[in-house]
Amino acid sequence: MAHPTPAHQNVPGAQPGSPGPSASPGQRLQLRRPDDWHVHLRDGAMLKAVAGATARQFARAIVMPNLTPAVTTAASAAAYRQRILAALGPEVAQGFQPLMTAYLTETLDPAELVRGQAEGIVTAAKLYPAGATTNSSAGVRDLTAIAPLLETMERIGMPLLVHGEVTDPAVDIFDREAVFLERQLLPLLARHPGLKVVLEHITTAEAAAFVAAAGPQLAATITPHHLHINRNALFAGGLRPDFYCLPIVKRERHRLALRRAATSGDPSFFLGTDSAPHRRQAKETSCGCAGVYNAPYAIESYAAVFEQEGALGKLEAFASEHGPRFYGLPLNSSVITLERQDPTSDQAETVPLTLELGSDADAPLALVPFHAGEALPWRLI
Ligand code: DOR
Ligand code: ZN
Repeated sequence: MAHPTPAHQNVPGAQPGSPGPSASPGQRLQLRRPDDWHVHLRDGAMLKAVAGATARQFARAIVMPNLTPAVTTAASAAAYRQRILAALGPEVAQGFQPLMTAYLTETLDPAELVRGQAEGIVTAAKLYPAGATTNSSAGVRDLTAIAPLLETMERIGMPLLVHGEVTDPAVDIFDREAVFLERQLLPLLARHPGLKVVLEHITTAEAAAFVAAAGPQLAATITPHHLHINRNALFAGGLRPDFYCLPIVKRERHRLALRRAATSGDPSFFLGTDSAPHRRQAKETSCGCAGVYNAPYAIESYAAVFEQEGALGKLEAFASEHGPRFYGLPLNSSVITLERQDPTSDQAETVPLTLELGSDADAPLALVPFHAGEALPWRLI
């Protein structure tokens, strides 16, 4: 069924297209080329279908390792990196650097991380609490079991990327991130004071405040969807599987706190789309997968938020500077250009309702992009 109502119409304060104080159609905005510090590129036919959308906008991307089987070793990360570059083709691959991550398990040998880093393959390691999300069953049940891994990472300066939710079924799904901060993250930071940690895809006012108050040891990524929609969007006119992701979208006050954090200029917050494609059939079913596919219009989506907040001048720092500084990597030297359009005009380019991206052995590969059917105020040219 086509979605009758764009989600933003249910979100007070989020009206894509409301012009900022100085933006007019045709106006251009140049930015240092951004990086995506958290993305799911998948594998096989899906990888071929989605990788180009990320490479078109971003110079680098931190690629999540939650494949089946998970990417845990230096060798599997190197092989996955090759598959990504092959999927892009030589020309596009030249301008794009996938930054690989290793999936932490309770049995992983710390020497794998040392080797992965020494070989220039593994940039960071990802902590999935077991059962927290898609392909997390091989993740970590007991954080103290991975103390040797975390000590090694602390020593070699490898960032830990955290899916910050408790998995205790007794905790309400909307509270799982806030509870994680106190129960798990605070003690973890105290046990490993030299460890660089990125709290991924934050969704709550509590997480934004926690990260802002922490020192330079801790940073956070923020997705476009958590800046655009609140939990009402999940049920706007019916059940809306395209907005279901983990951590789940929260109340409006949290969305507003995330907007303040992203546009604050605080270097602890940076861009990470958490673009997580699932084929349409896997979303629109009785037990649909978690994940928002936002890669095709990601920078445009962030630009809409920054304009609505009167903070376009802060977009470049959030998208292109804070991330590399935290990771200790150089800033990109190339630029991208965005052009303002009038989203209410008949000529405005709209986001397609569905992207038909070929097929594989299972079924046709159709994906519903975030902002489907909307016209966004900025277009990447
Ligand atoms: O919504 C999500 N989808 N959250 C995650 O943490 C994983 C991701 C996926 O891989 O589909
Ligand atoms: Zn993710």
